[in-house]
Amino acid sequence: MEQLDQQQTETLAAIADAATPDAVEAIRVAALGKQGWVSALLKSLGGMTPEQRTSEGPKIQGVREAVTAALASRKAVLESAVLEARLAAETVDLSLPAPEMPKGSIHPVAQVMDELAEIFADMGFAVASGPEIEDDWHNFTALNMPETHPARAMHDTFYFPDKDADGRSMLLRTHTSPVQIRTMLKEGAPLRIIAPGRVYRSDSDATHTPMFHQIEGLVIDKGIHLGHLKWTLETFLKAFFEREDIVLRLRPSYFPFTEPSVEVDVGYTLVGGKRVVGGSGDAADGGWMEVLGSGMVNRKVIEFGGLDPDEWQGFAFGTGVDRLAMLKYGLDDLRAFFDGDARWLGHYGFGALDVPTLSGGVGVRS
Ligand code: PHE
Repeated sequence: MEQLDQQQTETLAAIADAATPDAVEAIRVAALGKQGWVSALLKSLGGMTPEQRTSEGPKIQGVREAVTAALASRKAVLESAVLEARLAAETVDLSLPAPEMPKGSIHPVAQVMDELAEIFADMGFAVASGPEIEDDWHNFTALNMPETHPARAMHDTFYFPDKDADGRSMLLRTHTSPVQIRTMLKEGAPLRIIAPGRVYRSDSDATHTPMFHQIEGLVIDKGIHLGHLKWTLETFLKAFFEREDIVLRLRPSYFPFTEPSVEVDVGYTLVGGKRVVGGSGDAADGGWMEVLGSGMVNRKVIEFGGLDPDEWQGFAFGTGVDRLAMLKYGLDDLRAFFDGDARWLGHYGFGALDVPTLSGGVGVRS
């Protein structure tokens, strides 16, 4: 019995001396753990006579309770000390000066994408998207470019070495037009969508980068004709360039996925040697530049989209977002768009609060 008292006294002293929560835990395991000495005493009760158990039981239980209580209170003291030490060490100096404002800017391409979404939303267009890693069925076949079609070779496509589970070649999409197919298949008709996004072609010089941005437009409905296309493009370009004197010239062209196809030029005027969009390109100081490819959606494409071309018609257009940004904001080197040069971004970028709205003027630069 004396031995039990002594063991309790030593244990309580060790608990009081424990300097860390880990040390407390080690004492707990040695006493109350499966192999602990208090646990062993408790087990020994089983082998005692009823008389022994009546006299020894309360003593052993008393030791267990005393040790348990001492462990808990020491642990609480040490843990709050650890917390106090952390709180003291992790201070924040609120008197430090705030960083210079503002930091960062919105890239002109991102700004123009937002402007386009705003303009087309006003005309009832929703924004659709598709994957940049495409299969050749969506990128070519369903757009009326079968495997042997010469237009496939014109796209300078980046292919992946492996085919997908359906045996289709995988590639980086060469245009946003596959989103036409995906949206028709997913949503049916009628449709009014734009699809902005990245596209890829193996091409690189002052006016071409291997990755660039396009925006696709698609309208599918009943009785749609070229007049709707022309009005839509004119309304869009007037809103985008923020001037009423936008003059369009529609030229017959060829795309496999539209029939008839129309290339759209916009008139510009030379101002101090720079092309400024506006006015007739036939004027003495003017000229025309191509801004868009478009046309009436080919019947075959409507069929590939899962719709009946006798019931549904539509128009589509596609244009380069980077080029629109260059024209509108007077930027002349496409490659600078993707250099990530902080000086260029600081100069040509937009403020984060300069959100394009039609009422405020889509592209105000503060
Ligand atoms: N996809 C064509 C291109 O990348 C553009 C286009 C889109 C033309 C829709 C007509 C209709 O050049």
